[in-house]
Amino acid sequence: MRNMPILLYFRQFSDSFACYHCRIGKPRDRLGERGAFAMEILRTEGLAKYYGAGANLVRALDGVDISVESGEFVAVVGTSGSGKSTLLHMLGGLDRPTAGKVRVAGNDIFSMGDDALTIFRRRKIGFVFQSYNLIPILNVYENIVLPVRLDGAAPDAEHIESVIEALGLAGRQDSLPNSLSGGQQQRAAIARALAAKPAVVLADEPTGNLDAKTSGEVILLLKMMSERFRQTVAMITHNEEIAQAADRIIRIEDGKVVSERAAPKRGAPANAVSERGAPEKVAPEKARP
Ligand SMILES: Nc1ncnc2c1ncn2[C@@H]1O[C@H](COP(=O)(O)OP(=O)(O)O)[C@@H](O)[C@H]1O
Ligand SMILES: [Mg+2]
Repeated sequence: MRNMPILLYFRQFSDSFACYHCRIGKPRDRLGERGAFAMEILRTEGLAKYYGAGANLVRALDGVDISVESGEFVAVVGTSGSGKSTLLHMLGGLDRPTAGKVRVAGNDIFSMGDDALTIFRRRKIGFVFQSYNLIPILNVYENIVLPVRLDGAAPDAEHIESVIEALGLAGRQDSLPNSLSGGQQQRAAIARALAAKPAVVLADEPTGNLDAKTSGEVILLLKMMSERFRQTVAMITHNEEIAQAADRIIRIEDGKVVSERAAPKRGAPANAVSERGAPEKVAPEKARP
Protein backbone atom coordinates (compact mmCIF):
# COMPACT_ATOMS: atom_id res chain seq x y z
CA MET A 1 0.00 0.00 0.00
CA ARG A 2 2.77 2.39 0.99
CA ASN A 3 4.58 1.71 -2.24
CA MET A 4 1.58 2.44 -4.41
CA PRO A 5 2.39 5.36 -6.65
CA ILE A 6 0.71 8.59 -5.78
CA LEU A 7 -2.49 8.89 -7.74
CA LEU A 8 -1.70 10.88 -10.82
CA TYR A 9 -3.81 13.92 -11.07
CA PHE A 10 -4.76 14.48 -14.68
CA ARG A 11 -7.59 16.89 -14.23
CA GLN A 12 -5.46 19.80 -15.37
CA PHE A 13 -4.85 18.04 -18.66
CA SER A 14 -8.53 17.78 -19.55
CA ASP A 15 -10.41 20.28 -21.73
CA SER A 16 -7.64 20.50 -24.32
CA PHE A 17 -5.08 21.45 -21.71
CA ALA A 18 -7.26 24.28 -20.42
CA CYS A 19 -5.79 25.08 -17.07
CA TYR A 20 -8.87 26.86 -15.82
CA HIS A 21 -7.77 27.04 -12.23
CA CYS A 22 -4.41 28.66 -12.80
CA ARG A 23 -4.31 32.21 -11.64
CA ILE A 24 -1.03 32.79 -13.31
CA GLY A 25 0.53 31.06 -16.21
CA LYS A 26 -1.03 29.18 -19.09
CA PRO A 27 -0.81 25.45 -19.55
CA ARG A 28 2.28 25.72 -21.71
CA ASP A 29 3.96 27.71 -18.95
CA ARG A 30 3.46 24.78 -16.71
CA LEU A 31 5.68 22.54 -18.81
CA GLY A 32 8.60 22.35 -16.46
CA GLU A 33 12.09 22.89 -17.75
CA ARG A 34 12.81 19.39 -16.52
CA GLY A 35 11.23 18.23 -19.75
CA ALA A 36 8.11 16.66 -18.29
CA PHE A 37 4.60 17.89 -17.70
CA ALA A 38 4.36 19.61 -14.39
CA MET A 39 1.75 17.94 -12.24
CA GLU A 40 -0.50 19.73 -9.84
CA ILE A 41 0.08 18.25 -6.41
CA LEU A 42 -1.72 20.67 -4.12
CA ARG A 43 -4.84 22.67 -4.81
CA THR A 44 -7.47 24.59 -2.90
CA GLU A 45 -10.94 25.42 -4.16
CA GLY A 46 -12.91 28.21 -2.53
CA LEU A 47 -11.25 27.46 0.76
CA ALA A 48 -12.83 29.32 3.68
CA LYS A 49 -12.42 29.18 7.44
CA TYR A 50 -14.50 31.32 9.73
CA TYR A 51 -14.10 31.60 13.46
CA GLY A 52 -16.75 32.88 15.84
CA ALA A 53 -20.18 34.18 14.88
CA GLY A 54 -22.21 37.36 14.62
CA ALA A 55 -20.29 40.46 15.56
CA ASN A 56 -17.30 38.27 16.44
CA LEU A 57 -17.13 36.49 13.10
CA VAL A 58 -13.56 36.34 11.78
CA ARG A 59 -13.06 35.33 8.15
CA ALA A 60 -9.57 33.90 8.65
CA LEU A 61 -9.71 32.44 5.12
CA ASP A 62 -12.23 33.79 2.68
CA GLY A 63 -12.25 31.93 -0.63
CA VAL A 64 -8.68 30.86 -1.36
CA ASP A 65 -7.86 29.17 -4.69
CA ILE A 66 -4.25 28.17 -5.10
CA SER A 67 -2.48 25.52 -7.13
CA VAL A 68 1.00 24.16 -6.51
CA GLU A 69 2.96 21.98 -8.92
CA SER A 70 4.92 18.93 -7.99
CA GLY A 71 8.46 19.98 -7.04
CA GLU A 72 7.57 23.63 -6.63
CA PHE A 73 8.68 25.68 -3.64
CA VAL A 74 5.97 28.21 -2.84
CA ALA A 75 6.00 30.87 -0.15
CA VAL A 76 2.79 32.29 1.27
CA VAL A 77 3.41 35.72 2.74
CA GLY A 78 1.23 38.11 4.66
CA THR A 79 1.19 40.25 7.76
CA SER A 80 0.29 38.91 11.18
CA GLY A 81 -3.37 37.87 11.26
CA SER A 82 -3.71 37.63 7.47
CA GLY A 83 -4.60 33.93 7.68
CA LYS A 84 -1.30 32.21 6.92
CA SER A 85 -1.33 29.69 9.75
CA THR A 86 -5.00 28.96 9.18
CA LEU A 87 -4.22 28.24 5.53
CA LEU A 88 -1.37 25.93 6.47
CA HIS A 89 -3.57 24.06 8.94
CA MET A 90 -6.17 23.53 6.20
CA LEU A 91 -3.56 22.48 3.61
CA GLY A 92 -2.25 19.92 6.05
CA GLY A 93 -5.64 18.63 7.14
CA LEU A 94 -4.93 19.66 10.74
CA ASP A 95 -8.27 21.46 10.93
CA ARG A 96 -11.39 21.33 8.77
CA PRO A 97 -12.54 24.32 6.71
CA THR A 98 -15.88 26.09 6.91
CA ALA A 99 -16.20 25.68 3.14
CA GLY A 100 -14.16 24.66 0.12
CA LYS A 101 -11.77 21.88 -0.70
CA VAL A 102 -8.13 20.92 -0.39
CA ARG A 103 -6.75 18.35 -2.82
CA VAL A 104 -3.41 16.72 -2.15
CA ALA A 105 -2.14 14.51 -4.97
CA GLY A 106 -5.69 14.44 -6.29
CA ASN A 107 -7.27 13.41 -2.99
CA ASP A 108 -10.07 15.55 -1.58
CA ILE A 109 -8.68 15.35 1.95
CA PHE A 110 -11.77 16.61 3.78
CA SER A 111 -13.93 13.92 2.19
CA MET A 112 -11.98 11.54 4.46
CA GLY A 113 -12.99 10.64 7.99
CA ASP A 114 -10.69 11.61 10.83
CA ASP A 115 -8.86 8.28 10.99
CA ALA A 116 -8.26 8.10 7.25
CA LEU A 117 -7.14 11.71 7.24
CA THR A 118 -4.64 11.03 10.03
CA ILE A 119 -3.11 8.16 8.06
CA PHE A 120 -3.10 10.21 4.85
CA ARG A 121 -1.40 13.10 6.63
CA ARG A 122 1.30 10.87 8.04
CA ARG A 123 2.08 9.41 4.61
CA LYS A 124 1.64 12.36 2.33
CA ILE A 125 2.32 15.54 4.29
CA GLY A 126 5.48 16.58 6.09
CA PHE A 127 5.34 19.42 8.59
CA VAL A 128 8.00 21.88 9.71
CA PHE A 129 6.99 24.20 12.51
CA GLN A 130 8.60 27.31 13.95
CA SER A 131 9.19 25.52 17.25
CA TYR A 132 10.77 22.39 15.65
CA ASN A 133 8.50 20.03 17.66
CA LEU A 134 11.17 17.37 18.11
CA ILE A 135 10.55 14.70 20.75
CA PRO A 136 13.09 15.49 23.52
CA ILE A 137 13.69 11.89 24.63
CA LEU A 138 14.39 10.63 21.11
CA ASN A 139 17.70 11.22 19.39
CA VAL A 140 17.95 12.96 16.02
CA TYR A 141 17.75 9.77 13.97
CA GLU A 142 14.80 8.44 15.98
CA ASN A 143 13.00 11.76 15.54
CA ILE A 144 13.61 11.71 11.80
CA VAL A 145 12.21 8.22 11.27
CA LEU A 146 9.35 8.60 13.75
CA PRO A 147 6.58 9.44 11.23
CA VAL A 148 7.62 6.49 9.06
CA ARG A 149 7.67 4.15 12.05
CA LEU A 150 4.31 5.45 13.29
CA ASP A 151 3.00 4.40 9.92
CA GLY A 152 4.27 0.88 10.60
CA ALA A 153 6.67 1.08 7.68
CA ALA A 154 10.39 0.44 7.41
CA PRO A 155 12.34 3.63 6.79
CA ASP A 156 13.97 3.88 3.35
CA ALA A 157 17.51 3.81 4.76
CA GLU A 158 19.20 5.08 1.61
CA HIS A 159 16.82 8.01 1.23
CA ILE A 160 17.06 8.95 4.89
CA GLU A 161 20.83 8.71 4.83
CA SER A 162 21.02 11.07 1.87
CA VAL A 163 18.61 13.51 3.55
CA ILE A 164 20.69 13.46 6.75
CA GLU A 165 23.87 13.93 4.76
CA ALA A 166 22.46 16.80 2.70
CA LEU A 167 21.29 18.57 5.84
CA GLY A 168 24.68 18.26 7.48
CA LEU A 169 23.39 16.09 10.33
CA ALA A 170 25.53 13.03 9.74
CA GLY A 171 27.54 13.46 12.93
CA ARG A 172 24.50 14.35 15.01
CA GLN A 173 22.24 11.37 14.61
CA ASP A 174 22.76 10.11 18.17
CA SER A 175 22.35 13.52 19.79
CA LEU A 176 19.31 14.52 21.78
CA PRO A 177 17.50 17.61 20.46
CA ASN A 178 18.34 19.80 23.47
CA SER A 179 22.06 19.38 22.79
CA LEU A 180 21.64 20.94 19.33
CA SER A 181 21.55 24.55 18.21
CA GLY A 182 18.29 25.99 16.93
CA GLY A 183 19.48 25.70 13.35
CA GLN A 184 20.44 22.06 13.84
CA GLN A 185 17.09 21.30 15.46
CA GLN A 186 15.26 22.84 12.54
CA ARG A 187 17.43 20.88 10.12
CA ALA A 188 16.45 17.71 11.99
CA ALA A 189 12.79 18.75 11.71
CA ILE A 190 13.25 19.28 7.96
CA ALA A 191 14.80 15.81 7.68
CA ARG A 192 11.83 14.36 9.57
CA ALA A 193 9.43 16.11 7.20
CA LEU A 194 11.25 14.62 4.20
CA ALA A 195 11.71 11.11 5.59
CA ALA A 196 8.44 9.64 4.33
CA LYS A 197 8.87 11.23 0.86
CA PRO A 198 5.62 13.11 1.32
CA ALA A 199 3.58 14.65 -1.50
CA VAL A 200 4.11 18.03 0.10
CA VAL A 201 6.10 19.60 2.93
CA LEU A 202 4.29 22.38 4.77
CA ALA A 203 6.44 24.81 6.73
CA ASP A 204 4.97 27.37 9.15
CA GLU A 205 7.43 30.21 9.81
CA PRO A 206 10.32 27.71 9.75
CA THR A 207 12.90 30.38 10.56
CA GLY A 208 10.78 32.22 13.12
CA ASN A 209 12.93 31.17 16.08
CA LEU A 210 16.29 31.60 14.38
CA ASP A 211 18.69 34.52 14.09
CA ALA A 212 19.15 36.15 10.70
CA LYS A 213 22.30 34.24 9.72
CA THR A 214 20.93 30.85 10.74
CA SER A 215 17.61 31.69 9.07
CA GLY A 216 19.42 32.26 5.80
CA GLU A 217 21.28 28.97 6.12
CA VAL A 218 18.16 26.98 6.98
CA ILE A 219 16.12 28.49 4.16
CA LEU A 220 18.84 27.77 1.63
CA LEU A 221 18.94 24.18 2.86
CA LEU A 222 15.18 23.90 2.55
CA LYS A 223 15.41 25.19 -1.02
CA MET A 224 18.25 22.83 -1.78
CA MET A 225 16.25 19.90 -0.42
CA SER A 226 13.27 20.91 -2.53
CA GLU A 227 15.45 20.90 -5.64
CA ARG A 228 17.47 17.82 -4.88
CA PHE A 229 14.55 15.62 -3.86
CA ARG A 230 12.02 17.33 -6.18
CA GLN A 231 10.10 17.93 -3.00
CA THR A 232 7.04 20.18 -3.16
CA VAL A 233 7.24 22.74 -0.35
CA ALA A 234 4.65 25.30 0.75
CA MET A 235 6.11 27.65 3.32
CA ILE A 236 4.35 30.44 5.13
CA THR A 237 6.29 33.40 6.43
CA HIS A 238 5.83 37.02 7.35
CA ASN A 239 9.46 37.59 6.36
CA GLU A 240 9.78 39.00 2.85
CA GLU A 241 13.47 38.19 2.62
CA ILE A 242 12.94 34.56 3.55
CA ALA A 243 10.15 34.35 0.97
CA GLN A 244 12.59 35.29 -1.81
CA ALA A 245 14.05 31.78 -1.64
CA ALA A 246 10.81 30.36 -3.08
CA ASP A 247 9.95 29.74 -6.75
CA ARG A 248 6.71 31.66 -6.30
CA ILE A 249 5.33 34.02 -3.71
CA ILE A 250 1.62 34.06 -2.90
CA ARG A 251 0.49 37.03 -0.87
CA ILE A 252 -2.57 36.91 1.37
CA GLU A 253 -4.41 39.71 3.11
CA ASP A 254 -7.52 39.32 5.25
CA GLY A 255 -7.87 35.69 4.24
CA LYS A 256 -7.73 36.36 0.50
CA VAL A 257 -4.99 35.86 -2.08
CA VAL A 258 -4.10 39.30 -3.39
CA SER A 259 -1.14 38.53 -5.62
CA GLU A 260 1.12 35.82 -6.92
CA ARG A 261 4.59 36.47 -8.16
CA ALA A 262 6.95 34.05 -9.81
CA ALA A 263 10.46 34.44 -8.50
CA PRO A 264 12.52 36.34 -11.08
CA LYS A 265 15.14 34.41 -12.95
CA ARG A 266 18.62 35.63 -12.33
CA GLY A 267 19.05 38.78 -14.44
CA ALA A 268 15.35 38.94 -15.38
CA PRO A 269 13.17 41.88 -14.39
CA ALA A 270 11.14 41.27 -11.24
CA ASN A 271 7.87 42.34 -12.84
CA ALA A 272 5.96 39.09 -13.01
CA VAL A 273 3.17 40.12 -10.69
CA SER A 274 -0.34 38.85 -11.18
CA GLU A 275 -2.90 40.76 -9.17
CA ARG A 276 -6.11 38.92 -8.47
CA GLY A 277 -8.74 40.44 -10.72
CA ALA A 278 -6.24 40.76 -13.55
CA PRO A 279 -5.50 37.10 -14.22
CA GLU A 280 -4.73 37.75 -17.88
CA LYS A 281 -1.21 38.75 -16.92
CA VAL A 282 1.06 35.83 -17.54
CA ALA A 283 4.08 35.17 -15.43
CA PRO A 284 7.23 33.90 -17.11
CA GLU A 285 8.24 30.31 -16.61
CA LYS A 286 9.75 30.02 -13.26
CA ALA A 287 13.39 29.27 -12.84
CA ARG A 288 14.15 25.58 -12.62
CA PRO A 289 17.40 23.95 -11.75
N1 LIG B 1 -8.77 29.32 16.79
C1 LIG B 1 -9.11 30.58 16.48
N2 LIG B 1 -10.22 31.16 17.02
C2 LIG B 1 -10.59 32.42 16.69
N3 LIG B 1 -9.92 33.20 15.83
C3 LIG B 1 -8.82 32.69 15.26
C4 LIG B 1 -8.35 31.36 15.55
N4 LIG B 1 -7.22 31.13 14.84
C5 LIG B 1 -6.98 32.25 14.13
N5 LIG B 1 -7.94 33.19 14.38
C6 LIG B 1 -8.02 34.51 13.77
O1 LIG B 1 -7.97 34.34 12.36
C7 LIG B 1 -7.17 35.34 11.75
C8 LIG B 1 -6.02 34.71 11.00
O2 LIG B 1 -5.13 34.11 11.94
P1 LIG B 1 -3.82 33.30 11.51
O3 LIG B 1 -4.18 32.32 10.48
O4 LIG B 1 -3.19 32.80 12.74
O5 LIG B 1 -2.95 34.47 10.86
P2 LIG B 1 -1.37 34.55 10.60
O6 LIG B 1 -0.79 33.19 10.72
O7 LIG B 1 -1.25 35.15 9.24
O8 LIG B 1 -0.81 35.48 11.64
C9 LIG B 1 -6.74 36.27 12.88
O9 LIG B 1 -7.66 37.34 12.95
C10 LIG B 1 -6.83 35.40 14.11
O10 LIG B 1 -7.08 36.16 15.26
MG1 LIG C 1 0.79 32.44 11.93
